Parts: sequence; structure tokens; C-alpha cells
Amino acid sequence: MSTGYQAPSVTVSSSLPKRRSDAVLVVAVVNGDDNDSTATVVANPFLDAEAVGEIEVALKALGAKGGADQVTRVVAPSLPVASVLAVGLGKDREQWPADVIRRAAGVAARSLNGAEAVITTLSGIDLGAAVEGLILGAYRFTEFRSDKTAPKDKGLRKITALTPDTKTTTKDAATRATAIATAVATARDFVNTPPSHLFPAEFAKRAKALGEEAGLDVEVLDDKALAKAGYGGIIGVGKGSSRPPRLVRLTHRGSQLARNPKKAKKVALIGKGITFDTGGISIKPAQNMHHMTSDMGGAAAVIATVVLAAQQQLPIDVIATVPMAENMPSSTAQRPGDVLTQYGGTTVEVLNTDAEGRLILADAIVRACEDKPDYLIETSTLTGAQTVALGARTPGVMGSDEFRDRVAKLSQQVGENAWAMPLPEELKDDLKSTVADLANVSGSRYAGMLVAGTYLREFVAEGVAWAHLDIAGPAYNTGGPWGYTGKGGTGVPTRTMFAVLEDICEND
Ligand code: BES
Ligand code: MN
Ligand code: ZN
Repeated sequence: MSTGYQAPSVTVSSSLPKRRSDAVLVVAVVNGDDNDSTATVVANPFLDAEAVGEIEVALKALGAKGGADQVTRVVAPSLPVASVLAVGLGKDREQWPADVIRRAAGVAARSLNGAEAVITTLSGIDLGAAVEGLILGAYRFTEFRSDKTAPKDKGLRKITALTPDTKTTTKDAATRATAIATAVATARDFVNTPPSHLFPAEFAKRAKALGEEAGLDVEVLDDKALAKAGYGGIIGVGKGSSRPPRLVRLTHRGSQLARNPKKAKKVALIGKGITFDTGGISIKPAQNMHHMTSDMGGAAAVIATVVLAAQQQLPIDVIATVPMAENMPSSTAQRPGDVLTQYGGTTVEVLNTDAEGRLILADAIVRACEDKPDYLIETSTLTGAQTVALGARTPGVMGSDEFRDRVAKLSQQVGENAWAMPLPEELKDDLKSTVADLANVSGSRYAGMLVAGTYLREFVAEGVAWAHLDIAGPAYNTGGPWGYTGKGGTGVPTRTMFAVLEDICEND
């Protein structure tokens, strides 16, 4: 059974097809020597001088400049393809950052207008980035469209990545890029599935199916089991909804694959899975409330990442702990002023029911730490304050100093661009409660993202290197499409977390 997204097929080839195909040829172009001159084709071994000349003449006639992310479609009758799509990389460089290639490929994929096959020279520059960018840019969510054949909803089916060498290592790079992009698409699918169709029990069921297909051990706690075991945060947040909460645990036992299994690292992943956040009794304003379909973006990315870790056979243990709940106002909902007991015993005064993420996450963090992980990565659409501080495309990362900086660096390398933020000691005082151990919000309007991180820190066990990624803005694109990111779910921070897992495998 296949439960997930089906990526286009990827073939590597060292030359253009001999016979005419219906594919679009995506060609990398750069600015000429000064900003005003016409685009020139990036030097490559796949096109002869005649073909390059033909493309450049056509680009000149159209006034194409080769600026970053500019696309121009031309016909080149001498080439064995239907048309040529020139994508700009901006100024020519010796070394190309991966994300420049990824973005250009994404822009090209979004401009295909329903073409089902592409051949590209971008892969001659960076094969992995070109494949990832094409697949991500071509991503569409059509499940709820009656007519799935409209050009803008039609998907790319076949990618031919031109590359000077078609060795096994190159093929492996294409396979790896396809797997990563597929994981991101899986996370996007979850986020894009509306709250009518994705509620805790259904989310848990889909996570279980994906996990079992990938060979993970799966455990699902339902509301009864959660109440019995003392998950007061998850129960408290979920009790206003007719659709009860869940806790999903997905385990990849990769240490068995390690050369020295006893020394293999163990990583805990945790993702916020609020399938819809109305705010609860502290209800949100109507405007843009529908964006809160994205409040399970952290959970989506974590599920996609642990499945990817299994597919790629990473030689470390990865245990995902994913709390799922719907935050609704009703006569059974928790009230502002209620006191609940988090898993592990900390009591909390719930001053604002809209600060629900930290309540379900604290339970999950305490549970995850019982497994004695070396590292813990938690990610959540946690605060509007993240977007105020860093904007819609830059996740904030907080946690233990060293690991936080390592996560930020890797995130920047993969183009998800998380930025390190501090957890100033004095903020802890803002979470004092008059009746319980902690309050779930501070009385101050300042540093909301950091206050939330400070709350979570209380629940991380001594000695665990941890990172918290606030992705409130980056998980869900409410603006126009850009690069390889369309509207809606982005799949952030799946690629960051996978890069961290790979880095732990390589460098401990
Ligand atoms: N899910 C929201 C955070 C959010 C806001 C995500 C905008 C995506 C876009 C979270 O549960 C929330 O409501 N946070 C409150 C916290 C406050 C009550 C301390 C917020 O940011 O206003
Ligand atoms: Mn909320
Ligand atoms: Zn929320």
C-alpha cells in the first residue's frame, strides 16, 4: 500500500535525447557582463554552440536579462524538445550556493503550465538542488479539486537531470534528493488538508499508516490512555473538542544499523499537532482564523522526517513524539484560570487558552526525555511573536547554546534559514503564577517567542542538548509563491531536521 505523495520519476542522463520529445528543456542563464546585457546560457557540456546561439538570440529578441528567478519561454527548432524555459540565476559566479539552484529550479517548475516532462541543465551545476527544487516547485495539492486536469493543477511527472557523469554516486544523489523532496511534500499535504478532514484521530491514523509502511514502530495513545497516564496538557487543550486528542510515537531503531550500536546516538523529535486552533475560550479574532489549519505544521514535519530517516536508513535511533489536539471553545473546554497538571507533575495556571501549544508540548517533552535521548528537537507554530520578530520566512531557533547554533547553521545550509535566538534568564520570572508552579503566559507584551521557549525549557531533562524551532510564519505561506515554495503548507522545517540527523550520523 502506498499512502503518500508520488514524486515525479527522475532519470540522470549525460546528453539530450536524440529524438524529439514533448519535454520542456529548463536551461540556466545568467546576466551578461553588465546588468543591461542579454541573458547568456551558463556554460555546459549538453548544448552545442549552435543550440546556445539559437537560445540566446531568442532571449535577446524578448529582452530577457537572466536576473535571479526570471523565466522566459522560447522555442528552439533545432533542439529535440517542445520548448526551452530559460531560468535566471542573476550574476555569474564560480560557485553556486545550493539554494540559488534550488530556487531557480522551483521557479521553473512553477512556470511549466502543465508540461509533464522536463529536461534540465541546472543539474549540471548541482544535481541534488536541481531535483529538489523541481519537485518542490511542481508540488500541487489537488485533493479537493473536482477538475484535477486544469493546467495549473497538473503535475510534473518526469524529470531528466543532465549531468556530466552518470556514475552510481550521481544516481544516489538523485534518489536522495527525491526522497527529501517527497518528505517535504508529505508534510505539505498534511498541512494543506483542511481541519474538516484532518482532526486528531484521523491525523494519528495517517501517521500510523505512513510509519508502518516505512517500518517504524508505532504507538498511538487515545484520550482514555492519555488521561490515565496523566497527560494533563494534552487533555486540557483537547477537552473542548468533540474530536478527542491523541499522542503518536514513531520509532526508527537505526542504532541496529550502526557499526557500534551501543555508541549510536538517540534523537527525540517533537512536533506541535494542533489540527485547528480557534484559541479556545480565549478565542481568536475571525480575521485569518482559517490560517490556523497550519497549527499542526510542526507535527507534519516531524512525521515526515522520522519516515525519511527510516527510508534513508540513518544509523541512529530517532523517536518522534507527536501530541495532537483540536483547540475549541465549548462547555467542556478549559477556562482561563484553570489549573492543569502537565505529564511529570508540574502544575500550570492556564491564563490564556490560546497559549495551548506549549501545554501539549510540555507533556510531549517530558515523555520524550524518559527515553534518555542525546538530542531533542522540537518544532511548533508556537507564537505570532515569531513572525513579528523574524518575518514569515525565518524560523527562530532557541535551546542549548551549542546545539541551537548547530541547528541554525544547518538550517541555513539547506535554505530554510532558521536564526538563533536567546532565552534570557529574567524571562522566567514572567511565568510566575500565584496558584500553580507556572503560568502559561506572561503578563508582558514583550518577547513572546522567547517567553514560549522559556516555558518549554522548564520541561527538558538535564543533560539533553535541545533545540526549539518556532515556525509560526515559515510553516505556512499566506503570501504569493516564491522560489520552490507555493501558497499554503511549506514543509518547513523538514529539511532542517533531516540535515541535523545526517550531521549527527556523520559527526556525532
Ligand atoms: N498557533 C498560535 C501561534 C500562531 C500565530 C501560529 C500565527 C501561526 C500564525 C498559538 O497557539 C498562539 O495562539 N499563540 C499566542 C500566544 C499568546 C496567547 C501568548 C499568540 O501568538 O498570540
Ligand atoms: Mn493558540
Ligand atoms: Zn496554536
